[in-house]
Amino acid sequence: MKVILFGATGMVGQGVLRECLLSPEVETILTIGRTLTGQQSPKLQEIAQKDLTNLSAVENQLTGYDACFFCLGISSAGMNELDYTRTTYDLTLSVARTLLKLNPNMTFIYVSGTGTDSTEKGRSMWARVKGRTENYLLRLGFKAAYMFRPGYIQPLDGIKTKTSLYAAIYAVLGPLYPLLKAIAPSYVTTTRQVGRAMIRVALQGAPKTHLENRDINTLA
Ligand SMILES: NC(=O)c1ccc[n+]([C@@H]2O[C@H](COP(=O)([O-])OP(=O)(O)OC[C@H]3O[C@@H](n4cnc5c(N)ncnc54)[C@H](OP(=O)(O)O)[C@@H]3O)[C@@H](O)[C@H]2O)c1
Repeated sequence: MKVILFGATGMVGQGVLRECLLSPEVETILTIGRTLTGQQSPKLQEIAQKDLTNLSAVENQLTGYDACFFCLGISSAGMNELDYTRTTYDLTLSVARTLLKLNPNMTFIYVSGTGTDSTEKGRSMWARVKGRTENYLLRLGFKAAYMFRPGYIQPLDGIKTKTSLYAAIYAVLGPLYPLLKAIAPSYVTTTRQVGRAMIRVALQGAPKTHLENRDINTLA
C-alpha cells in the first residue's frame, strides 16, 4: 500500500508515521507538510510546502497512492470560527479535492475527535466545523472515507504534541494513563493504536465510517 500522510510532524502524525515505517504492508509513505520530519527510511519521501491549499507545484508527485492519512489539525482554543474553519475545513477539503482528482481509488482517513458534531448545528464551534469537514469528506466521492474520532490519546515512543494546550493536559494525565486505561479502556487510546488502526482500515475497510476510541482500539 502507498500512503500519503499529512500532519506527520504532529503528535498523531508522528505515531502514524512510526507505524507506517514499521508495517511491511506499507511500501511507500509520502509526507507533506510545512516542514520535513527529518526521518530517514528507504520507504519515506517528504515534501515541504509552505501553503498546503495550493499543491499545484507538486501534483505530479501525488499520483498512484492508495490511501491518505490526514492527521493535520489545530486546537480551536482562542480561535474565532473563521480562522479555525480556514485550517480545519478549507485546507482539508482543498487537499482532499486535489488528491481525489489524482487518485480516484483512494481511501481517505481523517482525524477529527470525539464529540464531533455531525449535525453541524450544536453549540460547540470546533465540533460543528469538524462535523462539517467530516460530512463533506464523506460526500466527496472517495472509494472510501473514514473519520477517526479519538478522545484521549496517550503518546508513546517518545512522541510529543506540538499543541501547548494538549501538552499541558498530557503533563497532568500522562502519569495517570495506566489508571485511565484500567477504569475506562474505551475512552483512551495510544499513538500506536491510532496508527495501526489506520493501516488496517485502509487495507481492509471498517464496519462503519465514524470510528471512536473503542473502535480504533479494536481495529488496532
Ligand atoms: N492529541 C490528541 O490527544 C487528539 C485527540 C483527538 C483528536 N486530535 C486531533 O488530531 C489532529 C492532530 O492533533 P495533534 O495532537 O497531532 O496536533 P499537533 O501535535 O499540534 O500537530 C498538528 C499537525 O498539523 C500540522 N498543521 C497545523 N496547521 C497547519 C497548517 N496550517 N499547514 C500545515 N500544517 C499544519 C502541524 O504542522 P507543523 O509542524 O508545520 O506545525 C502538525 O504536523 C487534530 O485535528 C486534533 O484535533 C488530537
